[in-house]
Amino acid sequence: MDTTKDNQEVKTNNKERDYSQYFQSTYAPPSLKDAKKRGKEQVQILKDFSIPENLKNIGVGKKFYIRTYGCQMNEHDTEVMAGILNEMGYETTYSTEDADVILLNTCAIRENAENKVFGELGHLKHTKANNPNLLLGVCGCMSQEESVVNRILSTYPQVDMIFGTHNIHRLPQIIENALFSKEMVVEVWSKEGDIVENLPRKRKGNVKGWVNIMYGCDKFCTYCIVPYTRGKERSRYPQDIIEEVRQLAREGYKEVTLLGQNVNAYGKDFEDLEYGLGDLMDEIRKIDIPRLRFTTSHPRDFDDRLIEVLAKGGNIVDHVHLPVQHGNSDVLKLMARKYTREHYLELVNKIKAAMPNVALTTDIIVGFPNETEEQFQETLSLVKEVQYDAAYTFIYSPREGTPAAKMQDNVPMEVKRERLQRLNAMLNDISLEKNKAYVGKVVEVLVEGESKKNPDVLTGHTGSNKVVNFKAPKHLIGEIVKVQITDAKTWNLGGEWVEEKSEVVG
Ligand code: SAH
Ligand code: SF4
Ligand code: F3S
Repeated sequence: MDTTKDNQEVKTNNKERDYSQYFQSTYAPPSLKDAKKRGKEQVQILKDFSIPENLKNIGVGKKFYIRTYGCQMNEHDTEVMAGILNEMGYETTYSTEDADVILLNTCAIRENAENKVFGELGHLKHTKANNPNLLLGVCGCMSQEESVVNRILSTYPQVDMIFGTHNIHRLPQIIENALFSKEMVVEVWSKEGDIVENLPRKRKGNVKGWVNIMYGCDKFCTYCIVPYTRGKERSRYPQDIIEEVRQLAREGYKEVTLLGQNVNAYGKDFEDLEYGLGDLMDEIRKIDIPRLRFTTSHPRDFDDRLIEVLAKGGNIVDHVHLPVQHGNSDVLKLMARKYTREHYLELVNKIKAAMPNVALTTDIIVGFPNETEEQFQETLSLVKEVQYDAAYTFIYSPREGTPAAKMQDNVPMEVKRERLQRLNAMLNDISLEKNKAYVGKVVEVLVEGESKKNPDVLTGHTGSNKVVNFKAPKHLIGEIVKVQITDAKTWNLGGEWVEEKSEVVG
């Protein structure tokens, strides 16, 4: 059923719209409460995705533009949407000015991520005014929030369609509805989620590929919106993942990153199979792909089987991203992280023992409600103890509908900002020290392209995820080359390309 067509008689005066009509029948309003439910129903694996015949050429001669605001999962969703749009005949453009379809693939993780999107919607009002045939869509995690959908419905009439993270495979039908309707098309399912296989993908580049191994999150950390916007944890079958990685290997990709919000819970939802991330990595590492990464890990589910496989090295990179969030066990408890400081440090030691050259990175939140100076000091001392190579640090941002948002908070914003600065200063010192230890060493770098600052310089990453800049011929882009490190900064390394002479035999 098409709500929008049914409602064509609705007047376009937004303030007077009765929004309940958008949500009739199958189109329930997004509901964080419903999104929180975790039932016993089996996950549907839908294998028969295809673009309806009548929509296959609907985009011929037209262009699309997608802006991505969120995490790798979000970036990868953009690749899927680009793949679907390509199959409908649309071509990519990198300018909003000549786009016929613009999609904002949004992120709800912190307030500032959301503000950026509302700001952009404001700018796009003029683009839409100049090009009334433009279809403007909002998708991604913000679309799963009722408050966001209501705000867009009431304040941003320039938006033509809103669709959720569970509705990506419905993009052809959503576009069709939007093209033939005068009203805003809203399609957001607040369900636990299915798995849709065989979706097309238009990957960014042909060197590094993302592969989803699971969707959703059941951890419900008290500050986090993701379990509400992405549904329950559900794992793709190993054979589907392995086939996708094999395909990337055949196409010459040099690096694969296995993706999930909590990849360590991979396989826990299989009823008929005892199989976890360690088992999956053990099979994938045998595929001829030079580099294998995975993200994001949750310390709670990081098991010994995985550590045993990581120790095998080979194409498994020397990098583990292991978000700690906080260094104090009481705060960790309030965050519902389900591990203590001691458990985390024990895990770090096990990983370091199994992977002697491992680079560890993390995510940290400062200014969780009522965080004391002493508790914050424990975050600092943990950082010092672990010696992270890098970290993403955030000031806590209350997210409507999450348990932490209801907590009273006695920490003023200036204090939070000052703590963030102190934390970053410590992290930067450690990063610089760690990077200095690379000087003189020869590392392998996957060359990704020209440096943004200087096109004469090439840039790429080591397996340990360090950025390396160096001069070398452009034909090396896409290759793994050796570079001798000569210079270390906080965020990157500089070096000289080590030209490999072919050995003269006999
Ligand atoms: N699934 C991953 C990461 C999810 S979001 C994990 O569990 O590690 C990425 C990071 O954003 C989180 O690790 C956390 O540090 C941060 N984050 C999540 N919710 C936040 C909030 N409400 N305020 C500030 N930072 C938040
Ligand atoms: Fe959010 Fe926690 Fe799930 Fe990560 S594990 S996505 S922080 S709820
Ligand atoms: Fe943001 Fe959604 Fe990713 S909230 S961090 S885009 S899962």
